[in-house]
Amino acid sequence: MKIVVILPTYNEKENIALIIAALHEQFRKIPHDMHILVVDDNSPDGTAEIVRAEAQNRPHVSLITGRKQGLGAAYIRGMKHAVNDLRADAVMEMDADFSHKPGDVPRLIEALDKGADFVIGSRYVPGGKIPEDWSFLRRMNSKWGNMFARYVAGMSSVRDCTAGFRAIRASVINKIDPDTLKVKGYAFQISLLHEALLNHAVISEVPVEFVDRKRGETKLGISDIIEFMLNAWWIRFERSKTFLKFAVVGALGVAVNLVSFTLLLKMGLNKFISSPIAIEISIITNFLFNNFWTFSKRDMNDRIHIRGLKFNIVSFVALAVSYTTFLVLSMLDPDGIPQLHQAAGIIPATLINYFLNSYWTFKE
Ligand code: GDD
Ligand code: MN
Repeated sequence: MKIVVILPTYNEKENIALIIAALHEQFRKIPHDMHILVVDDNSPDGTAEIVRAEAQNRPHVSLITGRKQGLGAAYIRGMKHAVNDLRADAVMEMDADFSHKPGDVPRLIEALDKGADFVIGSRYVPGGKIPEDWSFLRRMNSKWGNMFARYVAGMSSVRDCTAGFRAIRASVINKIDPDTLKVKGYAFQISLLHEALLNHAVISEVPVEFVDRKRGETKLGISDIIEFMLNAWWIRFERSKTFLKFAVVGALGVAVNLVSFTLLLKMGLNKFISSPIAIEISIITNFLFNNFWTFSKRDMNDRIHIRGLKFNIVSFVALAVSYTTFLVLSMLDPDGIPQLHQAAGIIPATLINYFLNSYWTFKE
């Protein structure tokens, strides 16, 4: 396997040569073709010059440079270069400042070898650590960031969502297409993780100890924190889109149902026959929209004909529920407006439709 360790750098002249040397030390223990890709954003301190000098003596070191747009933007460029140009089978994310111990790299890669697609060097699983001397504020900042990611963005299955020490298979990167991630700063970490989860990547958290940098200073800024929080809410909104789509389809179904019913009545059909026909028509259009729109991104086990069969069963259950409601209301209120009775039947039928279809027909 060819593995490219991506090191984003901005003013890391004191760390970069040391980290490259420390990584090479570790590479000897790893049974893979290991490379380093430094993504430097024209650091004014001359980090890139040091990397160029290193690359002269070490064939497995490369450098790309660019305009400073943020940590996420640097990783996006780095991942694309690693996968498309260097033909990496996997990439790693890692700080260039020794926050992440080079000695932990082999363990992260072992987890890849064991079958994981997305390995996280995690501070918040048993055995993982944050620096003992972190101030209350610093701890809270990190904890809150994770709380936001886990409970606002909805990634509660992962303990350390914001970690910047990870090993990721190229197949995951290819599925995601990092260019579609609109985040520039540190928020990139949760966006990438979220996309990986949506794509059913096998996630594995390996405990690591996070160490404070000894040289240079952190680049995390207020704009990163703001982007991070907005991004968590954005992810939340994107997630609930499925429900919104289902509701839109449902509303469309109501219109189809009532229009069909009215047309059938106009054609002179008896209302007791028109009702189930109109229900069936709306259920079929609902299914088509849900199949090709609402749930189109779901990775479903069932083949289309099984889904079709399940859909029919759900349809009959929903039809029965809807028609029963219509019959009961027609009996209770024989002179009432038939459209109202028909509309009332839609409510329980839609609920049953949603649950059975979401958890059975379109089950992931
Ligand atoms: N190219 C480039 N461009 N590199 C950058 C930029 C940028 O705009 N901003 C930061 N970097 C580089 C730094 O030079 C360093 O190598 C690495 O990215 C991480 O930056 P730090 O400033 O050391 O981040 P940190 O230690 O505060 O944050 C770490 O922990 C976070 C979670 O708590 C990182 O690992 C983050 O990725 C992680 O989210
Ligand atoms: Mn750091």
